[in-house]
Amino acid sequence: MLLLAVACSYAQTDLKKKEVYPVTSCMGCHGQNAMGGLGPPLAQTKVGLSTFRQVVRNGKGMMPAISEADLSDTDLDQVYEEVKAKPWIPDEIPIAFKVGQFLTPRSVSHFFIVVFLFATVFAIRGLSYWLKCAGLKELKPAIAKFGWARSFGVVLKSLIVDGFFVGSLWQNNKKRWFMHGLLLYGFCGLLLADILIAILNPQRGQVPLTHPLKLLPVVSGIAVLIGIFYVMYRYKKDEFIDNGLTLGKDFLFVNLLVHVIISGFLVVALKRMGIHDFVMTIYIWHLAAVALLIATGPFTRFQHMYVVPALAAMTRLTEAIVASGVELGFEREPSPGRHHKSMKIASDVMKQLGEDGPITMRYYP
Ligand code: HEC
Repeated sequence: MLLLAVACSYAQTDLKKKEVYPVTSCMGCHGQNAMGGLGPPLAQTKVGLSTFRQVVRNGKGMMPAISEADLSDTDLDQVYEEVKAKPWIPDEIPIAFKVGQFLTPRSVSHFFIVVFLFATVFAIRGLSYWLKCAGLKELKPAIAKFGWARSFGVVLKSLIVDGFFVGSLWQNNKKRWFMHGLLLYGFCGLLLADILIAILNPQRGQVPLTHPLKLLPVVSGIAVLIGIFYVMYRYKKDEFIDNGLTLGKDFLFVNLLVHVIISGFLVVALKRMGIHDFVMTIYIWHLAAVALLIATGPFTRFQHMYVVPALAAMTRLTEAIVASGVELGFEREPSPGRHHKSMKIASDVMKQLGEDGPITMRYYP
């Protein structure tokens, strides 16, 4: 990061008076000697003048469109002549460009496919562990009697009501449902935005802030950010937050989320404000944080996103099977978890200690 930052800002010194190029914003990205920075080298460019003009006026990839107000047509043409005449000095190609070169939409998506596959393997491994604990295998004969289609209906309904809409939290605590929703739906919004952008704007050209494609991720990002700050507040205030098992990983998860959101907003803000020197550096930071979030997801609290809905669905299915009168064929722990049993044990202990009063049980998936 430091190297990139230095490399990006290095291109900023020493202006030669008569040339136009050194006083344009181009230099910030294409380098002092036009040997590249965030953008490719322009020295000895093989691009024709009309393409050159077109790229500058319309923007391309990470390069913003530059209007006539910022650079007149005459100056633009002169910049073309200047950079074309500049010598080719391979040693001057900065690290930032060498790194940035690999960050084409294509290579970035390939990288993320690998990260995603890695995460998926471990996610499936984790999920199957929990489903095994929930007795999916033992439940199979009962499901067959109950009917596969009917079971599918129960599971689907639970995934929507308990999973996506977090019904239990809604019933118990509307405020926490809302704060949890900021994270959950904010996150869904970010994911959806990324998919939509990949389909509708694959080159990631600049769109106005009020465009739905920009509004969706910005609003979602703000929601997630507020949600994270609430989580951090609870980490600070809630004496039961440390369950002795997952605090470190929870912390990693929250931290990576903060990195993802802050770096994402910084990229948008710096690009809009025309401060281009650090955009690439921060963009790399952003991509790295997203990749880490995905890669570590199956090992952090992130996994509750798919484990909890799956287990809730298992519970609903078991309940529905019992209610229908089909014999389960095995002794069932009261679900979810062993809540009722643990509750009983806890209240017995409290009674023996001579304490009477409400008992609060907390569970961490
Ligand atoms: C924010 C950084 C940034 C600024 C400022 C910027 N560029 Fe770029 N430029 C890029 C990037 C990144 C690319 C590569 C785009 C791609 O291929 O996806 C690029 C590509 C180009 C290309 C196409 C090169 C090729 O070989 O295809 C030209 C020409 C160009 N820039 C000229 C300019 C000029 C002239 C200016 C100043 C008026 C300028 N750029 C300002 C980042 C920038």
